[in-house]
Amino acid sequence: MYLGLENGVALVTAASRGIGRATAERLAGEGMTVVATSRSATGNTEKIGNGRIEQLALDLDDSDATAGLVQTVVDRFGRLDVMVLNTPGPRILPALNLGWEDWQRAHDQLLRPVVQLGTAASRVMREQGAGAIVLLTSTWVRQPALGGVLSSSYRSAASAFAKTLAAELAGDGVRVNQVMPGATGTDRMQGIVEMKARTNGTSVDDEITKVVKDIPMGRWGVASEIADAIAFLASPRSSFVTGTSLTVDGGAVRAAH
Ligand SMILES: NC(=O)c1ccc[n+]([C@@H]2O[C@H](COP(=O)([O-])OP(=O)(O)OC[C@H]3O[C@@H](n4cnc5c(N)ncnc54)[C@H](OP(=O)(O)O)[C@@H]3O)[C@@H](O)[C@H]2O)c1
Repeated sequence: MYLGLENGVALVTAASRGIGRATAERLAGEGMTVVATSRSATGNTEKIGNGRIEQLALDLDDSDATAGLVQTVVDRFGRLDVMVLNTPGPRILPALNLGWEDWQRAHDQLLRPVVQLGTAASRVMREQGAGAIVLLTSTWVRQPALGGVLSSSYRSAASAFAKTLAAELAGDGVRVNQVMPGATGTDRMQGIVEMKARTNGTSVDDEITKVVKDIPMGRWGVASEIADAIAFLASPRSSFVTGTSLTVDGGAVRAAH
């Protein structure tokens, strides 16, 4: 499908690996200039298809740097057409094993950067009269999972923030949508099954089997499959779609709506 994204400028956070990296590659492959931030970014430029990835070092834990990121991109590239709000994942533990500092940490990982970047991007896009914001959350917003209370709680708040922005900006040419991935084969997912194997005294293969058993398609997702959904919602091909949440999970969430 022709997405019509070429020559635009995108910003993707937490994008050195996994879903963020796959998204940066997908958008660059469509001919965009993609600023991809992470702590390990080298500052290099990578040519991909007709577009490019500009790596930019940014630690989302640094609140001041995060607050200024959108302006940094606009100062350098003149505009911002697509903002993909990705964050690192939080700790996975039962609610009663978490201390207040875990909640504060997760707030600073999952909610604070989304509000800072989403607000800044919205202002720039409203001024431009055009733009698309895509928030990456998790199916755990729709179907909380054991051990996932930090993710479900703060991402529910981020999800409500995105839904509200969508309504407030709908008349200004700015669309705001959300992608909710299910289990996706990335370094993070590998780390989770390894941790579960250690905790449960099982093998990694046992833990993978347990995850996959609840997915009707019988497999994990691939990061590029999440990136495809993000690219669609970022593109003019979804021009009448705003305020929606697209689940990409091989059928794992059972809710009908
Ligand atoms: N994989 C799944 O099954 C799945 C399912 C649902 C939701 N999610 C969520 O989707 C998001 C991405 O997941 P993933 O699996 O792609 O994760 P991943 O493979 O672990 O990648 C995490 C990315 O976050 C960056 N990062 C970590 N800490 C950072 C910081 N303080 N500042 C800036 N960047 C930082 C990492 O880059 P550096 O280390 O270079 O900074 C890396 O690029 C997470 O929030 C995760 O919870 C994942």
